[in-house]
Amino acid sequence: MIAPQLRQQFADAFKCSPLIVRAPGRINLIGEHTDYNEGFVLPASINLASHVAVARRNDGRITLYSLEFNERVEADIDQLKPHNRWTDYVLGVVDQLLKRGYLLGGFNLMLTSDIPIGAGLSSSAAVECAVALALDKLFDLNIDKLELALIAQHAEHQFTGTMCGIMDQFASLFGRKDHVVKLDCRSLEHQHLPFNFPGIEIVLFDTGVKHTLASSEYNTRRKECAEGVSMIGKRYPQVSSLRDATAAMVDECIPIDSVIYNRCRYVVEENERLLAACDDLKNGDIFAFGKKMFQTHSGLSNLYEVSCPELDLLVEKVKDMPGVLGARMMGGGFGGCTINLVNSLNSETVINNTSAAYREAMGKALSIYRVWLSDGASVLV
Ligand code: GLA
Repeated sequence: MIAPQLRQQFADAFKCSPLIVRAPGRINLIGEHTDYNEGFVLPASINLASHVAVARRNDGRITLYSLEFNERVEADIDQLKPHNRWTDYVLGVVDQLLKRGYLLGGFNLMLTSDIPIGAGLSSSAAVECAVALALDKLFDLNIDKLELALIAQHAEHQFTGTMCGIMDQFASLFGRKDHVVKLDCRSLEHQHLPFNFPGIEIVLFDTGVKHTLASSEYNTRRKECAEGVSMIGKRYPQVSSLRDATAAMVDECIPIDSVIYNRCRYVVEENERLLAACDDLKNGDIFAFGKKMFQTHSGLSNLYEVSCPELDLLVEKVKDMPGVLGARMMGGGFGGCTINLVNSLNSETVINNTSAAYREAMGKALSIYRVWLSDGASVLV
């Protein structure tokens, strides 16, 4: 439904017919804060997505139009800089393309998205990926998908200052319907694992807390992990990231009552947990998989300290509800959503009881998204 309307609105605004690209948001089943530690992640692209419509112009101007913000912004391709607003996700990508020597001309672009902003579903990565793929096609650049993901990631680094890992952009571009993507963030090799359990739903509970702390605390976590690596590296020079470290090394090299110890212990355990969770999937054991999600939450909350009272409450409340197989906070943290694996027979009750409990404890409404795994970014014809 979105694409025909977008096409029409673009034609009305710019008097020509556009190319349309869809790039989805993502969830992550397990493997949180492991990507920038060269570990593994297990995300999937979902049904919620960003759409961009683009067409060339004959001058070097860029005109951007966001349907959600109902705002039109002009930019000059020779003078791109961040402005701390939605246009950064578009212009950051243009900037990266130019820095890599790709030749672009001016263009008109219209953007729309049904991914909730600030919910931890990577709405920004979806915009970056949609724009990267759209400009690749529009200007016949022939960039491979992995480079598009890196371009989108670096746009985020340069134009928003969050030193994110590669997970979000990779998931948006490489996702596949009914599959999760097992990504090795060191080699960037990936595998699609089937994730299709009839009768099991993926339900997201959105705290409504916008993760304002996320960018600064995120960058702090990266530094803390790097500090841990340098402590371990003094005794084990072969360790160049937490991917190489074992729990025994962490115990041996880092004072046990320190913050750095907790951060490193979590990352090492999370990588191991993810590999075991992939075995659960191969064995069709979604119950064992779900239990690991609870363990991840506990690590993120107690050791990595990226949760918040609202997220903790939501996980605590569903823990003993019949039909809940697994739950945890998802994404960078400090707000956003929890991800829950729920038996369809129980999902209405789980949703009603959790909403009521959230309202009672926090005095605010819970937003609920039922999501499913859909294909990654593509050009729509
Ligand atoms: C954010 C980042 C990702 C990843 C997650 C945590 O979503 O953009 O790269 O680090 O946080 O797993």
